Amino acid sequence: MDIGVIGAGYVGLVTAACFAKLGHKVICVDIDTAKINALKKGKIPIYEPGLDQLVRSGLRAKNIYFTANIKSAIAKSTVIFIAVGTPPKDNGEADLTYIENVARKIATEMPSYRLIVEKSTVPVQTGKRIEETIKAYNKKKIKFDVASNPEFLREGQAISDFLSPDRIVIGVNSKKARDILSSIYASFKAPIIVTDIESAELIKHASNSFLAMKISYINSIANICERCGADIVKVSKGIGLDRRIGKDFLNSGVGFGGFCFPKDLEAFIRISEKLGYDFDLLRSVKRVNDYQKILFIKKIEESLWVLNGKTIAVLGIAFKPNTDDIRYAPAIDIIKMLQNEGVKIKAFDPQAMKNAKTVLKDVKFCKDAYSAVRDSDCLCIITDWDEFKSLDLKRVKRLMKQPIIVDGRNIYEPKDVEKFGLKYKGIGRYYDRRHQD
Ligand code: UGA
Repeated sequence: MDIGVIGAGYVGLVTAACFAKLGHKVICVDIDTAKINALKKGKIPIYEPGLDQLVRSGLRAKNIYFTANIKSAIAKSTVIFIAVGTPPKDNGEADLTYIENVARKIATEMPSYRLIVEKSTVPVQTGKRIEETIKAYNKKKIKFDVASNPEFLREGQAISDFLSPDRIVIGVNSKKARDILSSIYASFKAPIIVTDIESAELIKHASNSFLAMKISYINSIANICERCGADIVKVSKGIGLDRRIGKDFLNSGVGFGGFCFPKDLEAFIRISEKLGYDFDLLRSVKRVNDYQKILFIKKIEESLWVLNGKTIAVLGIAFKPNTDDIRYAPAIDIIKMLQNEGVKIKAFDPQAMKNAKTVLKDVKFCKDAYSAVRDSDCLCIITDWDEFKSLDLKRVKRLMKQPIIVDGRNIYEPKDVEKFGLKYKGIGRYYDRRHQD
């Protein structure tokens, strides 16, 4: 199949590279010519494990081609995936300017039948708008279909999520569109759910918001644990083993970040409002998530008493491990809040420091975890990178001015830390010293 992918951002690039791996001929377009020139040489603008090899092997096999010329991509591709950005406006609504521009371009440039597929996360009813826009600008009355095929990949494991999804969702309103999309995914083992376009669009919003809700729920339970002497890790395990609940996304911490959950949640609240429904539940999900960061600062304050003048080591800036993405990362807000209290920050992240330097001021970025920890009054863990799970705690204790760890991701067991003479605070952790198990 000749596939065009418009937008070489996270979703677009992974989609293009994976389709190329499956043997399709893919043209990936972006207006950023510097990015396209780098991609042509196999240089990837983001850190995503395995993506560089996949793009390079696609280039070698001549299955993937990068261009800034959208006109030629539209001319050569029967199926066009739209994966351009839908950034938030000031009021939280998704800005659909880029989607509309692409729809108009397709309308005027398509030489014959095209299937136009929404891949970006868009508000429900965007498919309808794309269809109306193309109809309005498609003076030659060329036949086309619009479809929705939302993506559920997670940053850091995007390729395996794309290639081995739990399900494939296809929203269509014609048999032709359904057949084309089904044939593109023919080699996948996952169940294919075929729906109307609106349902497919909503599945994406509802999935992300549900997962965000799970996190805010477990964080609220963690806060109760702290107040009543229960341990969130045990509670989480106990509820997660119920198959109706499921154990994933029940890790308490400083809250969710990234460019998807916070933005999509906000957008979904706005969409619901526009549709005449007050989605109060989702507003609470957001409130709990914001408050989680404030509670984290309070925890540090409880340990250090006065924050002003203290030095704090922050381990982890990315919004989660295995990515260099710092968009809506809890660490960014937490660092800024601490700086407002007069705290000096020493920080380390295995991948995200280059990005962090563009948004954070007066932070001492260190070459590794131990340099960050040296002479600090408190160590805060904010991202659960694997390498932070096996720190030499004896060395950590020796290097610190005050031996205190505040673990925003519960990567340590309290007893394992305390045996090195370090004070430990997790999120919702309770360690009953009478039972040493
Ligand atoms: C999320 C969804 O998981 C994907 O299915 C979806 O395709 C994607 O958004 C998107 O809309 O494009 P992603 O933002 O890459 O993926 O990251 P997640 O792994 O979902 O993590 C989001 C945040 O939740 C992170 O900050 C993570 O640390 C936090 N989290 C996750 C928790 O605090 N607790 C958990 O138990 C799980």
